[in-house]
Amino acid sequence: MKFWAAAMLAVLAGCAGPPGEPAAHAPAADPRVMVQFPEMLRTHTLANMRDHLLALAEIQDQLSRGAYDKASDIAEQRLGMSSLGLHGAHDVAKFMPQGMQAAGTAMHRSASQFAIVAKDASVTGDIKGSLAALARVSQTCVACHAAYRIQ
Ligand code: HEC
Repeated sequence: MKFWAAAMLAVLAGCAGPPGEPAAHAPAADPRVMVQFPEMLRTHTLANMRDHLLALAEIQDQLSRGAYDKASDIAEQRLGMSSLGLHGAHDVAKFMPQGMQAAGTAMHRSASQFAIVAKDASVTGDIKGSLAALARVSQTCVACHAAYRIQ
């Protein structure tokens, strides 16, 4: 009994660090801006996000097969300007700070841009341009994630 009490104290002491200082493993303060969405919209947005990631995976898969047309269509319909209605972007935009709206627009635009580049590649076979355009899409995901959170 005594042993366990002493062991627990040792563990707790290890976590606590010197008196008056924060625990050594305390996470750094989260620098992202917290954005409040109504609960239903938050759940819906996160589901959309998971589909964004799935779409990226599908695009990469199609590119690896030289199926530029398919990669282009997935990008335009699921991430591009054509996806705005699909995502209920209009409902959700009014809860977003301006910078977050801009980040969303940047993503839709870059995906539509990729869709054009990939369509061209179906004629030219130029994979590099498509990969570069796809990287720009990923960068828009990264930029928004670095700045905002909803949970
Ligand atoms: C306009 C801002 C914005 C853009 C652009 C954006 N996201 Fe997100 N995404 C978010 C926010 C906010 C969260 C929630 C993060 C949090 O609260 O910790 C999120 C969460 C996610 C999640 C986690 C979902 C879950 O169930 O928890 C995935 C996966 C994701 N995003 C993928 C993507 C991908 C892929 C792209 C680009 C194609 C993208 N996102 C673009 C704002 C954005």
